[in-house]
Amino acid sequence: MRCRLGLKECPKNDAGILRCFPKIEQPFGMVIFGASGDLTKRKLVPALNRLFEAEILPERFFVLGAARTRMGDEEFRSRFNTQPDLLKRFSYTRVDYQNPDTFKSLKRVVDDLMKRFGVRNLIFYLSVPPDVYVPIIENLSKAGLNTETSRIVIEKPFGKDLKSARELEQVLQRSFGEHQIFRIDHYLGKETVQNILVFRFANFIFEEIWNNKFVDHVQITIAEGIGVEHRAGYFENTGLLRDIFQNHMLQILALITMEPPSSFNGESFRSERVKLLRSIRPFPVEDLENWIVRGQYGRGTVNGRVVPAYREEPGVSKNSSVETFVAMKLFIDNWRWSGVPFYLRAGKRLPKKVTEVAVVFKRIPHSIFPNVPSKDLEPNTIIFTIQPNEAISLEFQVKRPCPGMTPQLLSMDFRYEDYFGVKLPDAYERLLLDVILGDTTLFMRRDDLEVSWELLDPVLKAWESDPVRFEPHIYPSGTWGPKEADLLIERDGRRWR
Ligand code: NDP
Ligand code: BG6
Repeated sequence: MRCRLGLKECPKNDAGILRCFPKIEQPFGMVIFGASGDLTKRKLVPALNRLFEAEILPERFFVLGAARTRMGDEEFRSRFNTQPDLLKRFSYTRVDYQNPDTFKSLKRVVDDLMKRFGVRNLIFYLSVPPDVYVPIIENLSKAGLNTETSRIVIEKPFGKDLKSARELEQVLQRSFGEHQIFRIDHYLGKETVQNILVFRFANFIFEEIWNNKFVDHVQITIAEGIGVEHRAGYFENTGLLRDIFQNHMLQILALITMEPPSSFNGESFRSERVKLLRSIRPFPVEDLENWIVRGQYGRGTVNGRVVPAYREEPGVSKNSSVETFVAMKLFIDNWRWSGVPFYLRAGKRLPKKVTEVAVVFKRIPHSIFPNVPSKDLEPNTIIFTIQPNEAISLEFQVKRPCPGMTPQLLSMDFRYEDYFGVKLPDAYERLLLDVILGDTTLFMRRDDLEVSWELLDPVLKAWESDPVRFEPHIYPSGTWGPKEADLLIERDGRRWR
């Protein structure tokens, strides 16, 4: 099939895949708050660089870094390893997020740049810790920078709980319209996450079996080998439930289970996603331990390297009870999924980095093969490997080529690398492009947040109200979490893949 540019195949090189986007005409300016930080250096500027190299960005655009650190334009530019032609468009200004006066100076700098580059559309990217979102938004308004043609990008976590998320939303809605607000969950920018939608809604054969009549259960794993790294300050205030489940995990779950929207673009997709999230059964707080397991990494070995316990990491309290691992079981109370358990787990310092969804089908009802009871025949499973080694696999039984009738489980794999032969674009490349184009489809809507916090808030409250009962189980680094996580699924006669 030809793509919208009339191509039959994707160009077989890294820049080529991005060149498939037509060049943007509309000039823009991007103001990055917290531009001295990690996200700007590791994700935002490299993504802009790739879009620039692929000649997608318009002729006229600028990037203004804004943060508290004192530095000049040259020092700011020297932080990035990018195209010199791109760096010419970078400048830096100092701003105190809490001080309205510095936003008046910011406005003067911005006005000047807008004139110089002939730009009307401004994007404000909040690449700062969430504590300073509110003062920045309020000060942008006071300085009159929240014009009709401006957009604002907010990074997760969106608040700390339902109350703070609502407060943040009120402040946001006072200053910007919903179409101007881009709440980023970078998992929605991953090609393999979006491909869940194509797999489900561009193929007819799977829809008939995508329900409780055929599916036994679903597992989602978001595992990382890394620990808290240099983010102790953030993580000590956040924990893994907020860091991964409130956003990435629930979004993947929604894409796997939502009803078909009438169209991808616009509100239909986002509405179906939220409808699904609303159908998740609330967790019973009385016996929460049987539904959600909390863990924290102890010392151990990951990839042959001995690593410290979480409590020994710099910046972490010696008796911290913040979780670095969560496993949970949940149900979706609707016609399609009633009775199907979903087992979700995510954690740091697990044996390897892998994000995977496994849709495990029911076992055959009766075996016709001598000496092969149906319980010994592994069920069919469809596995979406979101990262790394991006792939989709179907596990099914085949006859071993020998006398007799001996089934054997095999995997039929589609690997992106084999077929497309390109490095997949980073999620931020796609999402920044959508922000520049003003397309909110792949961003979270206000009600996404409301629903996810409504689900997780009682859990967080229960944990806080009884820290002894909910003390995280310590697991050795380099293992798949505490044994309680295994019990969670084994109690139901199943096991983690
Ligand atoms: P950083 O900790 O690097 O902070 C960014 C900048 O914010 C710093 O350079 C600093 O700039 C300023 N800052 C830091 N702490 C404070 C504080 N307590 N009060 C006021 N300003 C402060 O954060 P990241 O760049 O890692 O992340 C930015 C945002 O993106 C966060 O909301 C984070 O949750 C989110 N995010 C980050 C990811 C990542 O991979 N890094 C991934 C996904 C989301 P200065 O002192 O110069 O003002
Ligand atoms: C971020 C979390 O949102 O996602 C990090 O804050 C986590 O803790 C990261 O490491 C994982 O993202 P990815 O794209 O590397 O899977």
